[in-house]
Amino acid sequence: MAIAFPPGFLWGSATAAVQIEGAAHEDGKEDSIWDAFARLPDAVAGGDTPEIAVDHYHRMPQDVALMKQLGLGAYRFSTSWARVKPGDREVNRKGLDFYSRLVDELLEAGIVPWLTLYHWDLPQALQDVGGWANRDTAYRFCEYALAMHDLLGDRVMHWTTLNEPLCSSLIAYASGEHAPGLRDPRAALAAVHHQHLAHGLAVEALRERGTRQLGITLNLTNAVPDQPADPVDIEAARRIDALVNRMYLEPILLSRYPDDLLHDVREHGLAELIADGDMEVIGAPIDFLGVNYYHDDNVSGHPLGAQARPNLTPTSRAKASPFVGSEYVTFPRRDLPRTAMDWEVNPDGLRALLIRLGREYPTLPPLYVTENGGAYNGDSVGEDGRVHDPDRTAYILQHVQAVADAVGEGADVRGYFLWSLLDNFEWAWGFQKRFGIVHVDYTTQVRTIKDSGLAYSRLIREGGRAASDTN
Ligand code: FCB
Repeated sequence: MAIAFPPGFLWGSATAAVQIEGAAHEDGKEDSIWDAFARLPDAVAGGDTPEIAVDHYHRMPQDVALMKQLGLGAYRFSTSWARVKPGDREVNRKGLDFYSRLVDELLEAGIVPWLTLYHWDLPQALQDVGGWANRDTAYRFCEYALAMHDLLGDRVMHWTTLNEPLCSSLIAYASGEHAPGLRDPRAALAAVHHQHLAHGLAVEALRERGTRQLGITLNLTNAVPDQPADPVDIEAARRIDALVNRMYLEPILLSRYPDDLLHDVREHGLAELIADGDMEVIGAPIDFLGVNYYHDDNVSGHPLGAQARPNLTPTSRAKASPFVGSEYVTFPRRDLPRTAMDWEVNPDGLRALLIRLGREYPTLPPLYVTENGGAYNGDSVGEDGRVHDPDRTAYILQHVQAVADAVGEGADVRGYFLWSLLDNFEWAWGFQKRFGIVHVDYTTQVRTIKDSGLAYSRLIREGGRAASDTN
């Protein structure tokens, strides 16, 4: 097929502060909710913690050199609120300095810094007063965003407010799998609304300071009814679409919550939280939408049969459904290949999603795929000094092809960020799941570019051509 990537298409890779930095209590940094959560019994697989992670805090210049070697055009990273404002008190000069040095190093290497302000690591001190269930946290976030902008506004052009608010609300406050590990549906919906508000307040404030590239990253899905003609499955898929996609897209793009969603969650107090003027703030215009895509969701309204394989979970700690008001929905397995996360591999889902967004939201800003990638078992450095990971390479090339197809069909996609640059701390899975295109030996911290990293690097240098070559 013809190569459909527009000129200037951004090829990048992504990480997040908690997952790579380490130095969790150094240079003034205090606990984030992930430090505290990881200390709870059975919260993280293997008792792993973000204390050292992959020591990026101390190895940053070498890691940027690796990015340059790979030929990355952009690097998506997050800043740690608990490092920059420990305990959400005054700004910590040493914490700020780290990000200032990172940005300088990136610019020096010709790599666009793509900054995310919140990738799930609330200062624990704010959690102690209710976290995102407390409306005040939205205003605290805005102050933190301004502190970051004071420091980096002259050098960072692309600002993302939140990463995947679905995970830091429903999965964190209703399911309990992510920090702070609560199982409280009401608090989860309060977190949704207050994170939206935080986003809108920060967009308004940074816009006022002259920022031109402001956006948010959402993890979106195609909710597919298991039996396409079964009204029970169709209804279940509608509910998942409302909770995963439209509960985020509509407030941000259209200044409103969907009516069907408000009805589905009517017993859990969302509507009551919306103060006068909130929706206008939340819908402040944005310049790009980040889309994280890993897999679709095959949805049913029927109980799974007794033979069904149980969901893979990281630990035996008690968890509940993240799907507030629709806890009964099930996710039957389809006959598709799976990654080590037990996630379906379905590249065409990415194409379909990118197309659908443009079709359903006429005011949609340009899109960037801000995360996509695969965890596979068995990565290790062989005797030849290489890491052979053909499944991950195939995953990447197929998904890049899907992006090319979407662009060819008219989707306005301007960049692709691979998750992840480095193997890292995969939240409740600890160090068990490796997503990196660079292997990290967790004992020695030695980095080795995997075959998938070499393939991605070739693809970047050829402007995306390698993707089509696989077909
Ligand atoms: C996303 C997260 C990212 C990483 C990938 C695998 O949900 O944003 O931090 O864990 O999944």
